[in-house]
Amino acid sequence: MAIIIKNAEEIELMREAGRILAKVHEELGNQVHAGMSTKDVDRICEELIRSYGCEPSFLGYEGYPASVCVSVNEEVVHGIPSDKRILKEGDIVSLDTGVIYMGYQSDAARTHILGEVPESVKKLVRITEESFFEGIKYAKAGNHLYDISAAIDSYIKPHGFGIVRQLTGHGIGKDMHEDPYIPNYRKLTRGPKLEAGMTLAIEPMVNLGTWKVDWMDDGWTVVTADRKYSAHYENTVLVTDGEPEILSLISGDK
Ligand code: MF3
Ligand code: CO
Repeated sequence: MAIIIKNAEEIELMREAGRILAKVHEELGNQVHAGMSTKDVDRICEELIRSYGCEPSFLGYEGYPASVCVSVNEEVVHGIPSDKRILKEGDIVSLDTGVIYMGYQSDAARTHILGEVPESVKKLVRITEESFFEGIKYAKAGNHLYDISAAIDSYIKPHGFGIVRQLTGHGIGKDMHEDPYIPNYRKLTRGPKLEAGMTLAIEPMVNLGTWKVDWMDDGWTVVTADRKYSAHYENTVLVTDGEPEILSLISGDK
């Protein structure tokens, strides 16, 4: 595993990519509503990304046909936007998108609740977000990578939710996916040592029921095996000698 350490100039570009992505998510979150199609979400997202002078990193990635993954309810990740899929009250909608700014990438996801949902679903979305913040408490030089994984796992486990295992977080930089992969469950080892200048996309994917997932016939959409709801939360994070910097979040935001 070769984890790329970013230098000061690269970090500055990743900060800018992250700032832009945070704004894209904020604006997208304000605009997503029941009655629109998931394709509408994609159109708005692509326009926002380009309005900031960035490229949508997802578009064309391994043949992916859109700028954002829109994953509704039992869809875990990689939902493909469609004119036919209309969002409705009671849906939970995970939006995962990324930007490239001057050759450097940022990747982040948010789960939005539309209208009224059962208390259990609200809790799923909240615990998923909170598990990210628990995990990054360990994203410090001198700690080990899987300390983050273990912290996420320990936070979620008491609630009885299923932690997705087939998909993980990842290093990020010039490429959307760099080493290392970052599981959201406890490993038997502590993994590689963290160093200042590592940039990581940490992204818990958490299910109301089973941790098991299936792939749909479109080759992309991942759904829960029991078709119960799933939530996703992700940010691009910079490891430093002190507190981690959450690059894709406007401070004070979630
Ligand atoms: N953002 C996803 C991840 O976190 C990857 C999306 S794949 C794409 O790893 F093809 F949709 F871009
Ligand atoms: Co990611």
